[in-house]
Amino acid sequence: MAILKKLHLTLGPKIGQGKNFEVYEAPAGDGVVKVLRPETPPEKLESHVGKLARLRKLGFRVPEVMALGDNWALMERIHGQTLKEIQTAGQELSLEQMEQLRVLQSRERHEGFYIGDLNPKNLIWNEGAADWIIIDPGAIRQNRDPEYIDQKLNEQAAKWFGVGAKPLAGLRRKRPCRKGGCR
Ligand SMILES: Nc1ncnc2c1ncn2[C@@H]1O[C@H](COP(=O)(O)OP(=O)(O)O)[C@@H](O)[C@H]1O
Ligand SMILES: [Mg+2]
Repeated sequence: MAILKKLHLTLGPKIGQGKNFEVYEAPAGDGVVKVLRPETPPEKLESHVGKLARLRKLGFRVPEVMALGDNWALMERIHGQTLKEIQTAGQELSLEQMEQLRVLQSRERHEGFYIGDLNPKNLIWNEGAADWIIIDPGAIRQNRDPEYIDQKLNEQAAKWFGVGAKPLAGLRRKRPCRKGGCR
């Protein structure tokens, strides 16, 4: 990855904002530039990029980081709606979208870790990948006791599906469609 500390970037239009970053279209190519907000401690950038790299190593889908500056990172742009946008539009999740959320949670449960901050704004459904891309993870806590992970997965499920929802890892699969289809 190129480290271009002194690069002066001309930013494209703003496309998003969270607690720590303002996010802009990259000046060229299909990327985004995440710029640390002035009030955000500078070490947040390195820890953000580090968490993405760790998740990638674990086999999760995350945006590729192309270049890193003092207070910005140039990343792959992920196309699609965030889970939050899907919820706000009142759309129902497709079976595939549900299934992939279930896969995320069952991986966490079975491999004994918990990915922090997987709130609906931090997951984008990408049609091409047919998967959720994690654009903004929190700390990845490994080897905690199963009860702790269960509690955290319950909290995740509540954010994804509403208060009181159970983690999808426990759901039974729907019966397969019969010959002739199920639509
Ligand atoms: N790689 C990306 N591709 C497309 N949109 C993005 C990307 N990264 C961030 N965004 C948009 O910017 C918003 C804020 O980015 P995020 O990384 O979650 O910042 P914060 O850490 O401040 O919450 C996201 O909710 C999303 O809408
Ligand atoms: Mg975020």
